[in-house]
Amino acid sequence: MKNISAILVFVILAASADISLAGSAPATGVNESMHDITYLGKAFGTYNQDDFQRVCIFCHTPHNALPNGTVPAPLWNHAPSTVVLQPYTWAAPANSLITFNADPLIGPSRLCMACHDGVTAVDSHGAAGWANNGANVMSSFYVDGLGNTAKRYIEDLGVTHPIGFLYQDALNVRNSGNVEIITPDRRFLVDIPANPNTHTRAGWVMGNKMIADTLYSGYFTCASCHDVHNTNNAISLPALTDGRIPNYFLWAPEQKSLLCLSCHVK
Ligand code: HEC
Ligand code: HEC
Ligand code: HEC
Ligand code: HEC
Repeated sequence: MKNISAILVFVILAASADISLAGSAPATGVNESMHDITYLGKAFGTYNQDDFQRVCIFCHTPHNALPNGTVPAPLWNHAPSTVVLQPYTWAAPANSLITFNADPLIGPSRLCMACHDGVTAVDSHGAAGWANNGANVMSSFYVDGLGNTAKRYIEDLGVTHPIGFLYQDALNVRNSGNVEIITPDRRFLVDIPANPNTHTRAGWVMGNKMIADTLYSGYFTCASCHDVHNTNNAISLPALTDGRIPNYFLWAPEQKSLLCLSCHVK
């Protein structure tokens, strides 16, 4: 009995440590964020740490990176994801007017999938993924920065927000009426006033990040919503009532669904 309560105390302490990850707050940088694989290894033992305790190395290297072409390689140093996934199918009208790239994972999306596809080892590095004895792929669920159980990896684009299409195509068919989207020269929202008016957008506060800057050659990707480096993403509106601070590396806050309203007129 004594042993069981000792374990319980340990589990509770571990859980609260999880919520207060030092660098886990939005826009505090990649170190000690959910994208610092060495840190995750140290704090939770989930992944192998890098021998030299490096952070960038799981994604970038100054030498011997993956040649450009295989992936849009920003000195990429992780085994590429080779999954082939079917694109999202639109529910709203004029579906056929919005075209997907032959690979819906065009651009940084395929880089994300190097870890978030559920089959490529997260903690390996080296252009071909040979170094660090990495072997640990993402398993089904993890405890996120909010202490919630979240799904780690994406295996079906049919049930995720559409990516891999040209934003301008969408704009051409959704520039008015009840499916209107925002032109990409607008910036992500920081806040909206009480009694907001979605048509005039009077008093709506925009931040510095322009939608167009998140597109890859005009294509919408994972990076159109997420800042992989946890650097210029949204600082949340005041913490939730229980003190938790949401951080999913998003360009606009989750509260009031400001992320969604940044692009959709609703
Ligand atoms: C978890 C993976 C990951 C880690 C860790 C990471 N990056 Fe990146 N980095 C990316 C991806 C993906 C891109 C492609 C650009 C994008 O997000 O659209 C990128 C792009 C870049 C770029 C080119 C574009 C830009 O943002 O300036 C630089 C420079 C860069 N990273 C530097 C770094 C440095 C320095 C570190 C470590 C302190 C680091 N990155 C850590 C994934 C990562
Ligand atoms: C080098 C591996 C790697 C790459 C590349 C990578 N991630 Fe991650 N990501 C992780 C790990 C590890 C976690 C923590 C969850 C876990 O342990 O499985 C994570 C967590 C996240 C989270 C949840 C954050 C939280 O606080 O709950 C988001 C969102 C995310 N990644 C998005 C992305 C996007 C978008 C890209 C590409 C632009 C990307 N990731 C590229 C490894 C990676
Ligand atoms: C339209 C915006 C958008 C796009 C595009 C997007 N995400 Fe997300 N993502 C979110 C939001 C918002 C959350 C926060 C959780 C929520 O609200 O469901 C999230 C959460 C996550 C998480 C945390 C686990 C979870 O499900 O809560 C991961 C990992 C992630 N995204 C990875 C990706 C990857 C990889 C891609 C590209 C294949 C991607 N996201 C594309 C908006 C987006
Ligand atoms: C960076 C801009 C951007 C953000 C942020 C964004 N979306 Fe989208 N979304 C689009 C575009 C562009 C399309 C494709 C055109 C369309 O269907 O309206 C789309 C498509 C959709 C669709 C599919 C419509 C259909 O007919 O099947 C839904 C639903 C949707 N978004 C909801 C959301 C929600 C909810 C959020 C917030 C979590 C969000 N979007 C965030 C730009 C964005």
